[in-house]
Amino acid sequence: MPEIQPLADRQEIACAEMRGEPCGMVVFGASGDLARRKLVGSLFELFKRGLLSEKFYFLGCGRKVLSDDDYRKIAEESIADHSGSDEEREKFVKYFNFISGDYLDGGFYERIKERLGELDAEYGVPGCRIFYLSIPPGLYGVVAENLGLVGLSHTDSAGCKLQPRLVIEKPFGNNLESAVELNEQIREHFEESQLYRIDHYLGKETVQNILMFRFANAIFEPVWNRNYIDHVQITIAESLGVGHRAGYYDDSGALRDMFQNHMLGMLAFVAMEAPASFDADGIRGEKVKLLRSIRPIDAERVDEFFVRGQYGAGVFDGEDICGYLDEEGVRANSVTETFVAGKLFIDNWRWKDVPFYLRTGKRMGKRVTEIAITFKRVPHSMFASVGLDEMPANVLVLKIQPNEGIRLNFQAKRPGSKTCMSTLTLNFNYSDVFGTVDREAYERLLLDCMVGDQTLFNHQDDVEVSWGLLGALLEAWGKSAGALEIYAGGDGAESFAAADKIIESDGREWRKLSEM
Ligand code: BG6
Repeated sequence: MPEIQPLADRQEIACAEMRGEPCGMVVFGASGDLARRKLVGSLFELFKRGLLSEKFYFLGCGRKVLSDDDYRKIAEESIADHSGSDEEREKFVKYFNFISGDYLDGGFYERIKERLGELDAEYGVPGCRIFYLSIPPGLYGVVAENLGLVGLSHTDSAGCKLQPRLVIEKPFGNNLESAVELNEQIREHFEESQLYRIDHYLGKETVQNILMFRFANAIFEPVWNRNYIDHVQITIAESLGVGHRAGYYDDSGALRDMFQNHMLGMLAFVAMEAPASFDADGIRGEKVKLLRSIRPIDAERVDEFFVRGQYGAGVFDGEDICGYLDEEGVRANSVTETFVAGKLFIDNWRWKDVPFYLRTGKRMGKRVTEIAITFKRVPHSMFASVGLDEMPANVLVLKIQPNEGIRLNFQAKRPGSKTCMSTLTLNFNYSDVFGTVDREAYERLLLDCMVGDQTLFNHQDDVEVSWGLLGALLEAWGKSAGALEIYAGGDGAESFAAADKIIESDGREWRKLSEM
């Protein structure tokens, strides 16, 4: 273990944080799960850190009939397990208001507009707004269109630095065609500069750290390429199952739910070139260039590169857990995948022929997300005479969650005989240095949206390129090509035969979840 410097002695290099602009945040689907579990709590954290403008309010919209007071109670419950004084809680919940109506009724948006006028006056907000769509994806287009039709997609208030912003949860479309169509519908009323397409993984501290680690240090970039790197593995393993989300998930599956966005987003951060500056145009430009360089999936050879699985019954932590087909709301005989493993290549000078192995699954034996970069072995062992003719490869692991950190394995001399060697580890844990990293990704993303920074949000180009890449696969799996393997969920679930074959056919193996 390296020595960890106490906080006071550590050199703080640079920290910059802007306070949110005055605004009214209008959340469609405010009585739903996301708003209650993530959005309200994240706003409370921003509020406590003084990052929320004094001129702020929240207007929840939903089908449920709730009064402002009812919603304030919901907000209070949502922050019950957050730290904070009674005074802070009391002040915070006063920001919350609610309006009920039907998303398909044009009159609802007229009422919203009227209410916003009243709230602007009450909270001193000069007409600046953020609209957040936390509703079923089928309604994104309708709501955006209606906001435009009542004139809420633009403002001419001199007090607003920014035009109204529209925050859109994933999934943005469910294939290339629907993503293009949805975008066209939204763009009738909103400019690209007003759109904030969320991929909450990009809001995670450790995912953003990939860019700092790569581009704020000179020592990694020279070896960050095909000359030194053997392969890269990206894993998002979840121990939970589909929970109460079968209504959405059964139509989506792991490829659409995790791979098209979170996995490809992390891959892009690991592999992209350095932009000239850390801003939206720079980052998003490089990201999309990288995604465009991914070798298209050959429709005839899908099985060699991608496999899918579905969790069956198993045991987790001593408790029986049901298989996917027995989860509430899942269609009988559903062939929706809960696990995807794939192999991708990036056809550019830096990465030509370096395999990127990616896997994500629900009901795995362990919850862990990490990116492991395995370097090539030394070309020649000078220790062959004592039987050490194959040196283990150096592996650099970016631990995204839950034990956030960075680990590097290397060989070193052990005390003892002359050629006594061990594989040792340089280990940096965020929690040892900064305490627990429990900052919710939505805090970052909401604040960025309030200051008008689109860096960590997907541009339509990213969305289209990633759907385009997966098109052949979606089509093949849609036609039932590619067997769906059932794996026992829970304890010990790591992979299965077909997924192993993808990597073992190259003479490599998956990193063991149990050892991560
Ligand atoms: C969401 C997916 O985007 O990410 C969920 O829709 C998944 O299915 C979740 O469980 C995982 O996020 P995290 O932050 O818990 O790793």
